[in-house]
Amino acid sequence: MYAQMVESTGKTVKTAAEMTPQEAAFQARIDAGEKIEPKDWMPDAYRKNLIRQISQHAHSEIVGQLPEGNWITRAPTLERKAILLAKVQDEAGHGLYLYCAAETLGISRDEMYDQLHSGRAKYSSIFNYPTLTWADMGAVGWLVDGAAIMNQVPLQRTSFGPYARAMVRVCKEESFHQRQGFDIMMKMANGSDAQKRMAQDALDRFWYPALMMFGPSDKDSVHSAQSMAWRIKMNSNDELRQKFVDQTAPQADYLGLTVPDENLKWNDEKGGYDFSQPDWDEFYQVLKGNGPCNRERLGARVKAWEDGAWVRDGLMAHAAKQDTHLAAE
Ligand code: 3HC
Repeated sequence: MYAQMVESTGKTVKTAAEMTPQEAAFQARIDAGEKIEPKDWMPDAYRKNLIRQISQHAHSEIVGQLPEGNWITRAPTLERKAILLAKVQDEAGHGLYLYCAAETLGISRDEMYDQLHSGRAKYSSIFNYPTLTWADMGAVGWLVDGAAIMNQVPLQRTSFGPYARAMVRVCKEESFHQRQGFDIMMKMANGSDAQKRMAQDALDRFWYPALMMFGPSDKDSVHSAQSMAWRIKMNSNDELRQKFVDQTAPQADYLGLTVPDENLKWNDEKGGYDFSQPDWDEFYQVLKGNGPCNRERLGARVKAWEDGAWVRDGLMAHAAKQDTHLAAE
């Protein structure tokens, strides 16, 4: 797969002959499937690339609470409300494990927040789309968490120990999220005509943004070749996108819904579906901050950070007082 990656991206990584002995020994550990732990030697670029990916992942979990948080007060039943509340809380937990994993690489939580709040760090493009109806809660769980699982199950085998271990719990919880989304879609798709229309509309709006979650096509991916050589990433963007379509298209059929793609068709020869690519211009616009909800999402995070200043100040003052007491004893 890695050789294929090099071919499709046109990007190469250092050969063994170009590596220093320390780099070659590091690569050999990765190739042997060993885990790299925070105190181990690692190339600066490995550390930097991991901080980039893990912190973006953490930001995605945190910003990802917003589109669903929007529906907690409007969930149709108490049971649905309790389930959605638990799911949104899980996402906060995922963000925290991931920030912790990134901190072990030498970046502070404040620096990561600052990168997010100043717009320097990315988070997943998907969260810049609005959630307009209750059916969107179904589509988000089914498609967005479904896409996240497709990407994150292989990351349980990623080379950096703290990231791989965080992924084990994250994936267990994401599976529950995906199932609850599918359950909402089943109810809606088998409900009244109006509910069925809502479910179809949610699928129509979330299908292509979900395909974008896997990142640009392999030939345009900046990091894939090196990230795959270091097992920071286990699969290419296109490979995971294909797997996602292959898994999800029959689920849409089961729901009696139509994937909004005239070109979606099973291809016996390749053993997978042919499908249309998302609008990549739209994807890059969202990444630049011009998606439908970018400003609203970032604004909400910055406001939460500023509104919480008094809590952080209070905790710091309390901790300083405790330290003074301990020092006096
Ligand atoms: N949204 C935002 N930015 C994206 C993106 C997306 N969907 N896809 C790619 N990008 C960015 C990359 O971050 C990179 O930008 P940078 O150089 O400024 O960091 C650029 O586009 C080029 O893309 P590459 O393919 O070279 O980037 P990667 O190799 O990092 O691949 C990725 C992108 C597949 C998202 C990879 O980073 C990854 O697997 N990350 C871990 C998983 C993750 O972050 N998931 C977030 C999903 S949401 C989620 O998990 C929340 C849950 O509750 C649903």
